[in-house]
Amino acid sequence: MRAKATTRTILDMRARGERIVALTAYDYLTARIVGETGVDLVLVGDSLGMVMLGYDNTLPVTMEEMIHHTKAVSRARPRALLVADMPFMSYQASVEDAVRNAGRLVKEGGAESVKLEGGERYVPVIEAIVHSSIPVVGHLGLTPQSLHQFGGYRVQGKDEKSAERLLSDAAALERAGCFAIVLEGIPWRLAKRVTEALKIPTIGIGAGPHCSGQILVIHDMLGVHEGTLPRFVKTYGEIGLRMREAIEAYAREVREGAFPGMEHSYDTNGDGKDRAPDR
Ligand code: KIV
Repeated sequence: MRAKATTRTILDMRARGERIVALTAYDYLTARIVGETGVDLVLVGDSLGMVMLGYDNTLPVTMEEMIHHTKAVSRARPRALLVADMPFMSYQASVEDAVRNAGRLVKEGGAESVKLEGGERYVPVIEAIVHSSIPVVGHLGLTPQSLHQFGGYRVQGKDEKSAERLLSDAAALERAGCFAIVLEGIPWRLAKRVTEALKIPTIGIGAGPHCSGQILVIHDMLGVHEGTLPRFVKTYGEIGLRMREAIEAYAREVREGAFPGMEHSYDTNGDGKDRAPDR
């Protein structure tokens, strides 16, 4: 069993050139499994708004919802470093809000660090959270909380001007004290430039193979999803399909009277073997 992962572990992995494995989780049992598989970083992402709560995007997610799911994941005591997302409007309005809400994710939710979206403009927010002894992960590129500003989920940093902006945002986040940065939905060449320019690790999602680590939404990589998945997702299981098959088999057996059988039934002597049930 590997030792509990901390921010130090993640930084040391970057220094040694070891790839960082990150995954989302939103509930206790999934977090147990994720923890047992040796994943390095587990994110309670605000993507839970879509995959757990059925919202159209991440914008409606509240602090209460984030704390509720972070608590469930932290009860699994995963070996992975536990990062919780700061939901939309929990850090944008003021530095004070940001520190208080980051504190709630740690104090009430059991998070070990927080993640927030945005570049240089959020340097004062990041500095204040880090000064409160809460480690911060930055998030640049196709940041889903800026969906309306971007006019949809569009790959960012495609032209040189926006690429330069992203490079300077990444440097600003590193100086502000972030211990890692998620790069989402940007061209792989830009992700490579950012990764080479920083000492802290980059965690890619839709940012190509040259980041220091990778993250995916667990439902996507397990094949539990609606509609088509973005190009950057690789599906490692067909769990959605398996769930459907299992539920259909259960429904069929209940309707046919094949379940429950005597092996699933109790009798006065405890084994259920000596009497057929009255039907
Ligand atoms: O909310 C989330 O799950 C995320 C990851 C996809 C990076 O921010």
